[in-house]
Amino acid sequence: MRNDRFLRACRREPVDSTPVWMMRQAGRYMAEYRALRTKYGMLELCRTPELAAQVTMQPLRLGMDAAILFADILLPLEPMGAAFDFAKGEGPVIHAPVADRAGVDRLRVIEPEDGLGYVLETIRMLKKELEVPLIGFAGAPFTLASYLVEGGKSVHFAKTKRLMYEHPETWNDLMSKLAEVVRRFLRKQVEAGADAIQLFDSWVGQLSLSDYRAYVERHVAHVLKDIETCGVPVIHFGTGTYHLLEAQRDAGGTVIGLDWRTPLDEGWAKVGADRAVQGNLDPTVLLAPREIAFSHAQRVLEQAGGRSGHIFNLGHGILPETPVATVQAVIDFVHRTSARPE
Ligand code: CP3
Repeated sequence: MRNDRFLRACRREPVDSTPVWMMRQAGRYMAEYRALRTKYGMLELCRTPELAAQVTMQPLRLGMDAAILFADILLPLEPMGAAFDFAKGEGPVIHAPVADRAGVDRLRVIEPEDGLGYVLETIRMLKKELEVPLIGFAGAPFTLASYLVEGGKSVHFAKTKRLMYEHPETWNDLMSKLAEVVRRFLRKQVEAGADAIQLFDSWVGQLSLSDYRAYVERHVAHVLKDIETCGVPVIHFGTGTYHLLEAQRDAGGTVIGLDWRTPLDEGWAKVGADRAVQGNLDPTVLLAPREIAFSHAQRVLEQAGGRSGHIFNLGHGILPETPVATVQAVIDFVHRTSARPE
């Protein structure tokens, strides 16, 4: 591997400059991606290893220090028995949302080879080509459960929380099934060659601390305590999680993701000096003139204070309207500004 500063930072080792990658770095803000999407659907791209590998590599020319596998957190739902589509302009639509005990009982706890083999094949193909580390990933149980129960995106997570409060045993069984599938899937991704893993709990910030502890934490721990024994760094990510950071850290992860609402230094103090942190530029900052984007990036670097164990990233996924030139300029700015003397 030619460039390992991302992995070094995950392990809190010194680096020549702060590593950078961006969530959703392969996607619609890039003309190369949009060109492929005129020929293939999103799921078709994911399910065709040659194409998924090609898309994974597209953003690397911008100077990213890691590649993230091109796939989606929802892919395991289909072989589990919950088919879905991406509807134009609406995001994911689950055809038959899980509403009750019978719906949970119908979900299959699959082996990753049954229905997710194409993801593992994409990883094996990429490992032959990449000069930067490859990040594998999966959705966390709460975030996956929210799509399954709501049937798509949500604002209030009302159906999800109602199931959780009203039928805690059914909820627990749903979360256990999801956690076990995710655990098996991530293990196989590491065996196939993933150099690091990220667990996306994108919507968990919707929960209070006591509800996180009561209904979610043990299921996340079921996944992360096992994956931590695989020998690769594990990034535990969520948004709106200021109040949950200590609990998320307890659930697991060698690197904790921070969004822009939490000042990076304050977030790092909460998770503790024995963990690395990833973040936390507001993705909308990349829509501003580059001098403004630079000043925000500078503040993130200042809050990291040159300590070992910071991975520069956005606080959430890059927006489709982001100019590619700004992305590239910010990556260069972070590398240049954080360069450490030899
Ligand atoms: O980061 C990467 O570059 C790797 C690929 C990746 C995608 N989705 C590709 C994608 C990753 C890591 C994800 C994770 C994901 N998917 C999450 C967690 C991260 C987050 O953003 O919170 C979630 C919640 C999903 C579910 C999902 N997939 C939604 C809600 C949508 C629709 C969003 C939208 O903006 O339309 C998707 C579709 C999706 N996943 C796209 C991409 C590139 C857009 C697909 C397209 O139309 O081309």
